[in-house]
Amino acid sequence: MEQNPNEESQKEQNPTEQGPTEQGQTQQDQAEQISRKHVVAGNWKMFKTRDEAQATVREVVGLVGNIQNVDIVVCPPFTALGAVEEILTGSVVQLGAQNVHWQDEGAFTGEVSVSMLADYGCSHVIIGHSERRHYFQESDEVIQDKLEKVFSTELVPILCIGESLEAREADRVQEVIPSQLERALRELTDPQTSRIIIAYEPVWAIGTGRTATPELAEKVHFLIRSWLSDHSSVGVADQVRILYGGSVTPENAGQLIEQENIDGFLVGGASLDAQSFAKIVQQSA
Ligand code: 13P
Repeated sequence: MEQNPNEESQKEQNPTEQGPTEQGQTQQDQAEQISRKHVVAGNWKMFKTRDEAQATVREVVGLVGNIQNVDIVVCPPFTALGAVEEILTGSVVQLGAQNVHWQDEGAFTGEVSVSMLADYGCSHVIIGHSERRHYFQESDEVIQDKLEKVFSTELVPILCIGESLEAREADRVQEVIPSQLERALRELTDPQTSRIIIAYEPVWAIGTGRTATPELAEKVHFLIRSWLSDHSSVGVADQVRILYGGSVTPENAGQLIEQENIDGFLVGGASLDAQSFAKIVQQSA
């Protein structure tokens, strides 16, 4: 089960203005109470057999020890979920899946349902990764249906969004990101919004070694949080964890995590190596 995102103090929000509130607190006081527990999730994509998965995760568990102030999640391929679950039992590391279908069951060859994921002890599931949007033509409607199904369970969705290189070069980020949010999240209630994890993964940064600079990433994370603020009740947007993904490594994670609105990472390549993944977790703790 997902822990309360506000349980651990991670970073304080910089208030844009100060003034007394109804409760007599200053906005500064309120802002200082806002904290979001960091999340570091490893998306293993289509890598690792069961034996390889167990070896990696055994090492991860040993390296991260008892870190409590970061939600640590590994997302192996479906075929290794059971093998990884065996190793994770009793550890602080949680299990996630990379995809799920939007129906409870049925004639959907090759698909997997939410109850099947729960059966393996999954707590998280990635929805709408750009590789699924691109290679498997996942539409915004499908992503919305998947989110709706996931919200009917206790699974925590990690919704991926991000602009293409073409959109970035055409200076269309400010339009593409809100429109992806609008299409995926427009029907969300406040409790659903506060539960979701959003991963900002610029497509041009995925697997390319070309990481977004901390400033550039922060700008988009701020844009995402502003959109959430405009579409939810007061305070809800401040609870949402927004992860950065795209060529995250132990070398660049430290600077990225210092940004106000970066609450952790969705790591691809570097999560396949236990040492690299654990270093990213440690930098986020
Ligand atoms: P890389 O970290 O390999 O760039 O992948 C990012 C990603 O797609 C995580 O979901």
